[in-house]
Amino acid sequence: MPSKAARPSDAGLIDRFGRRATDLRVSLIDKCNLRCTYCMPAEGLPWLSRSELLSGPELIRLITIAVRDMGIAEVRFTGGEPLLRQDLPEILAATAKLNPAPEMSLTTNGITLAKQAADLVAAGLTRINVSLDTLRQDRFAELTRRDRLADVLSGLKAAKDAGLSPVKVNTVLLRGINDDEPADLLEFCLENGYQLRFIEQMPLDPQHGWDRTQMITETEILDRLRTRFQLAPHPEDRGSAPAQRWLVDGGPGTVGVISSVTEPFCASCDRTRLTADGTVRNCLFAQTETDLRGPLRSGATDAEIAELWRGNMWQKAAGHGINDRDFAQPERPMSAIGG
Ligand code: 5AD
Ligand code: SF4
Repeated sequence: MPSKAARPSDAGLIDRFGRRATDLRVSLIDKCNLRCTYCMPAEGLPWLSRSELLSGPELIRLITIAVRDMGIAEVRFTGGEPLLRQDLPEILAATAKLNPAPEMSLTTNGITLAKQAADLVAAGLTRINVSLDTLRQDRFAELTRRDRLADVLSGLKAAKDAGLSPVKVNTVLLRGINDDEPADLLEFCLENGYQLRFIEQMPLDPQHGWDRTQMITETEILDRLRTRFQLAPHPEDRGSAPAQRWLVDGGPGTVGVISSVTEPFCASCDRTRLTADGTVRNCLFAQTETDLRGPLRSGATDAEIAELWRGNMWQKAAGHGINDRDFAQPERPMSAIGG
């Protein structure tokens, strides 16, 4: 039974299935300035209080332990909406200075990006992912419950003008709402030099309203794109990257599809996650998490924190189990875990 095996001595974040986490996703805040219907109820969620949130120095300490002592080579910042975090530039700058320097990225809804892009670049950010599900103003307002498409579009442009590269766009398609837009979104991204990626909707909504039959699958996404574009498999090896990439009309434009549900990539997963309140999770869908904030605030050493983190990773399940009959959605919604 692999679950009974003792954890070998290894500085890294290894699990019982031979995987090693080198990619850390950090949720900086659970709050958001949009209310996407598939992510949050209109009234928002019970937000973490200030004292529950990790402070900037606490976050930096945990990220430092992960990068310096446990082999984390990539740090991706998420939320909620990470641009709502006032101390974001300090957190980015401290992360960029670590040795060995990790790759850094940030996933944002872009609402305040036009104002902040230059500061992010000054802090050491070089690339960005912006979430955008529709190009139609009325739909955007309905889907996010805020009439702010123009802000996202100017945020995207500001990101490009500030030199962030690549600028990636993440899209979730919802049946009957925006599922007629994939080709329009791809055209828009190709014209503007953004890299588009579609993400299959996962069962992570707080309303527990996810319904497999409503999910737009990778196959459907590709079919809709092929009504306007020719797609050929991208020649580069996908590695552990979740997105399957396609060359559009012979290249150089590309499009990606992250088919987490219909073609899980759990076997090559290299992620560990830190929530805004200081727990580590070894999977978006993990049923257990390990608190690091308590030990951190009661004087644990870096070595003790690293051991707790390694212990969490050792418990990682083989897969997310979305396709199993007894699948249970995690208690925390996506916005409180970090996408
Ligand atoms: N499934 C897939 N992606 C989701 N996101 C939010 N909720 C889900 C879900 N249930 C996406 C957002 C954003 C990123 C942070 O995660 O659209 O692009
Ligand atoms: Fe905010 Fe992202 Fe959730 Fe939309 S999907 S409400 S932008 S956290």
